[in-house]
Amino acid sequence: MFNLELFGLKLNTNYIGRNFFYFEEIDSTNTYLLDKSNNIDISGTVVFAEFQTKGRGRMDRSWSSNSGQNLTFSILFLDNPKLFQMLNFLNFSAALAVAVSLENLYQIKPELKWPNDILISRKKTCGILVETVTSNSNIERVVVGIGLNVNQNHFKGEFNYPPTSIRIELGKEVERERLLAEILNNLEILINKLKSNKNQIINEWKLRCKMIGEKISIKQNNEVKFGIFDDIDDNGFLLLKTKAGIEKITAGDLSLV
Ligand code: BTN
Repeated sequence: MFNLELFGLKLNTNYIGRNFFYFEEIDSTNTYLLDKSNNIDISGTVVFAEFQTKGRGRMDRSWSSNSGQNLTFSILFLDNPKLFQMLNFLNFSAALAVAVSLENLYQIKPELKWPNDILISRKKTCGILVETVTSNSNIERVVVGIGLNVNQNHFKGEFNYPPTSIRIELGKEVERERLLAEILNNLEILINKLKSNKNQIINEWKLRCKMIGEKISIKQNNEVKFGIFDDIDDNGFLLLKTKAGIEKITAGDLSLV
């Protein structure tokens, strides 16, 4: 059972997580916040679920997570045109917030995988799904969904990338309430930094990306591109070095070759 009081005691934010919805079960926390008919109109609202019946991942994949063991939650952002012009950076900030929290609380050294996965020992422990609602090509709502494997011990089924959890890597259970509060605290700090220093976010992200310089493949729909992971550019796009030169990759699924 998630202890809301304990979570509240550890939360140091001004707005993120101050409006908080807890669900035992929901289809998807992202879907809930994207749906305007739920009438949630406070920026920073967090929807947390112990279990999602239709958890969603990037590229139309599903996200499955055992009930009551992990963190599956989404954060709503509203009325922030400046931030909405930098959605790539919001992605990076969310991944960094998780990574920094794992470093601070458990001295784990996570690795960031472009665009926004968090790996421990080269296995996936966290995925992030950023989605928007637009009207007349204006972004009205942005939802950042985070699925973090915390205390799950076994993973059944097929996975696009081998999964792991903090518990498996650390060898002990961790307190989800403290971890969630730490992630939200760090996310708010990073988003505030974005306004003044977005390069710092990219640099902090790059410090934790160990795949730069390695041979990779990028899957985009049915096409696979091979090359060397050259760098991340100032907009957060991946630069792939191929025989033809440097190609800018805006989206796709990265694998090490
Ligand atoms: C990915 O790695 O493909 C992204 C996974 C994102 C999963 C989270 S869990 C909370 C939120 N609700 C969803 O349905 N998806 C995101």
